[in-house]
Amino acid sequence: MKNDINNNDRPRFATRFGVIATTVGSAVGLGNIWRFPYETGANGGGAFLLLYIFFVIVVGIPVISAEFLVGRKSRRNILGAYHTLAPSHRRLWAAAGSLGIISSVLILSFYSVVAGWTLEYLTEGVTGRLNDFAQGARHAAFDSFTAGWACVAWTIVVLLINALILLGGVRKGIERVSNSLMPLLFVILLALCINSLLLPGAADGLKFLFAPDFSHVTGRTVLNAMGQAFFSLSLGVGTMMIYGSYFSSKTPIVKSAAATAVLDTMVAVMAGVLIFPAVFSFGASPAAGPKLVFEVLPDIFAMMPGGAVWAPAFFLLLALASITSTISMSEICIAFICEQWGVRRRTAIAVNTLIAVCLGSLCALSFGPLADFKICGFTVFNLFDFLTSNLLMPLGGMFVAIFTGHVISRSIVDAQLAPAPRRIINAIVFSLRYIAPTAIAIIFVSGLL
Ligand code: PHE
Repeated sequence: MKNDINNNDRPRFATRFGVIATTVGSAVGLGNIWRFPYETGANGGGAFLLLYIFFVIVVGIPVISAEFLVGRKSRRNILGAYHTLAPSHRRLWAAAGSLGIISSVLILSFYSVVAGWTLEYLTEGVTGRLNDFAQGARHAAFDSFTAGWACVAWTIVVLLINALILLGGVRKGIERVSNSLMPLLFVILLALCINSLLLPGAADGLKFLFAPDFSHVTGRTVLNAMGQAFFSLSLGVGTMMIYGSYFSSKTPIVKSAAATAVLDTMVAVMAGVLIFPAVFSFGASPAAGPKLVFEVLPDIFAMMPGGAVWAPAFFLLLALASITSTISMSEICIAFICEQWGVRRRTAIAVNTLIAVCLGSLCALSFGPLADFKICGFTVFNLFDFLTSNLLMPLGGMFVAIFTGHVISRSIVDAQLAPAPRRIINAIVFSLRYIAPTAIAIIFVSGLL
């Protein structure tokens, strides 16, 4: 492994807009539009939102800044980053990097399955089939679709589109696609929000989302809010670290971290504004869980004026959001393979795609033929989800917080976080040293239990 820190041959993002489009592209995904609404719905609404925002500010922004900083200072893949910057115990820290690589592959595998569902719904929406179901029949249709082989085929389609974008490289692939997809995503989201706000009874949905009712808050709610902040901001896997390694030396890290967190939260809130007024307007239950978006919403679109247009627009939104996230997960493994094994990008993409196709197919089949194949009581899909969201991501976040707060020298941290004001840098370092590791340790232990 080469150890020169001034590795100038690596690609860099071309513009500031590109930096924000790619990092927000990674953060905004199924986590915002699929998971956030059902978590909010199941955890009582407004109070959950407030807790979520609290964790984004107190833990999220510091940890994103830490990932950006470690990435940019080392200009390496994540294993190389820890190895290069650790003043001692390099192997131990490199193990922390390996953990991120493993979790990125596991997340990519199950995430692509859900992204595949969105493509099926998009095509059903475009062909008009989505609106043909009688109310409630969607439930059986969703179960039979996810249990079948079509679901495997869609997973593979997602992974192939993902590979095609990545073949373009950092600037012409990742940055260019994010630059055009993210604005499009905002436009579609805004149109869908306005439509929802115009529905009769929309105010009840807004009240549910924004009026905090702390009587429903339990320890679980707090943990779910923290876990959701982690997943939504793509923390603890290394996506923000690998993207940070492509930042120019002039990119302001703290501002970019804050912009990523604010825009990501904005999209989650907008997804809530899109979904809850519609749910309340049509008398559905906000607490439907993971099927909220795939079963309840299509029923609502079918009843809604103009539903034939809104339904495909919504699933297009979901598909776009997922693809900019899958490219960020994949880049972790690809940069690792290229830099550590010294192979060409094309080969690395092929290896990453092949592994994800195999593991992703197992995840896809966990809803059908492999439903009874359980490891420690989990289906493959649930196992990957549980392992990453509850264990590997918090662990990765804890490593990067401790590494930045306690291991690398304060002068490196200060230099990387400049030109942010001193008190902001101090607050970030304080969170990385004490608050983030403690908060994350709590999620971790409760996740285990
Ligand atoms: N943040 C993404 C989302 O909200 C998910 C993700 C997790 C992306 C980890 C990259 C790494 O959907």
